[in-house]
Amino acid sequence: MILVTGSAGFIGANFVLDWCAQYDESVINLDKLTYAGNLESLASLKDNPRHIFVQGDIGDAKRVARLLAEHQPRAVINFAAESHVDRSIHGPEEFIQTNVVGTFHLLEAVRAYWGGLPDAEKSAFRFLHVSTDEVYGSLAKDEPAFTETHRYEPNSPYSASKAASDHLVRAYHHTYGLPVLTTNCSNNYGPYHFPEKLIPLLIVNALAGKPLPVYGDGQQIRDWLYVKDHCSAIRCVLEKGRVGEVYNVGGWNEKANLDIVHIVCGLLDELRPQAEGKSYAEQITFVTDRPGHDRRYAIDARKIERELGWKPAETFETGIRKTVQWYLDNQSWVNNVLSGDYRQWLEKNYSERA
Ligand code: NAD
Ligand code: TYD
Repeated sequence: MILVTGSAGFIGANFVLDWCAQYDESVINLDKLTYAGNLESLASLKDNPRHIFVQGDIGDAKRVARLLAEHQPRAVINFAAESHVDRSIHGPEEFIQTNVVGTFHLLEAVRAYWGGLPDAEKSAFRFLHVSTDEVYGSLAKDEPAFTETHRYEPNSPYSASKAASDHLVRAYHHTYGLPVLTTNCSNNYGPYHFPEKLIPLLIVNALAGKPLPVYGDGQQIRDWLYVKDHCSAIRCVLEKGRVGEVYNVGGWNEKANLDIVHIVCGLLDELRPQAEGKSYAEQITFVTDRPGHDRRYAIDARKIERELGWKPAETFETGIRKTVQWYLDNQSWVNNVLSGDYRQWLEKNYSERA
């Protein structure tokens, strides 16, 4: 079996759903259930005996040690993190606690467990750390995309905390020989994405008749990948990746934020038309920029393509259409996450933006 952390969140939930649909191997799912963790995303696995959910913190090394001893997983995949840049600007402490200190405690528990395995299991064991392209910092318009050897230049408390966790993972391989793999992926989008992030926020706000907030001039560029393609890349790295290596994962799909906003509005105009041909684009509102906002991310995914034969299945056009349709079809999932906590966050993040 495998142990997956943080899989009540956006990417982890998609990963576990796909895993259980494709494999017979069981999954233990360790998640703290912060505001971003949502068991409703895993509702279809409720009666599946191959999915064991445990509420707990990756920073609780004793708890993790007990889980490892009891279930003897052949791999640990670490998705658990605080993941939202704007929240890290308002309150960085949780990011340090989970992404840095939590990853450290998780690594310690895994190192002790791995050290006690018999030789064959020891060499087959993998610790896969899921990270982000944001650790590489910001690119100018004409600079080449991030390769795995690009220097680390994190600019936000979020990306700095992820960078620190990447370094710890690397050090545990270099010093202790722990068989680690690291993936650094670009921006994901797709089902079960919490509507504090750009794409789901746009869909939810558009349908509610609310402003579509564009930070600064909207010309910041992100490289977007459909979440199921990220999950297939992680499975591929887990099975075929070379121990100690880093793999960048991306969709070769750079887009300016304002273009994303227009694409989402165009799809909603088609799929959920408003009266008298009014466009959702009329709700676009430019607001004060994010402090320290990275201008451009772009992933060079040639290493994972060349070495492991991975390629994304979706283009942006097919992926974004599926995503918008999913939000239209899953209004009750959306309504349930729009809790008091979510409304407080919107108030905090947007009330001070002119
Ligand atoms: P998310 O915020 O949607 O989910 C994070 C999950 O981790 C939640 O279920 C939360 O309850 C859980 N969690 C938080 N702290 C925990 C702790 N201390 N112990 C156990 N569980 C804890 O995040 P996501 O978007 O699904 O991202 C998952 C991972 O992928 C993160 O490590 C993130 O840095 C990375 N990543 C995300 C993106 C993206 O576009 N979303 C891109 C590249 C990499
Ligand atoms: P986000 O989804 O928060 O991901 P990240 O900051 O990790 O890239 O934001 C994506 C881009 O969209 C980023 O450049 C910030 C911008 N953005 C807005 O313009 N308006 C918003 O309301 C949000 C949440 C993000």
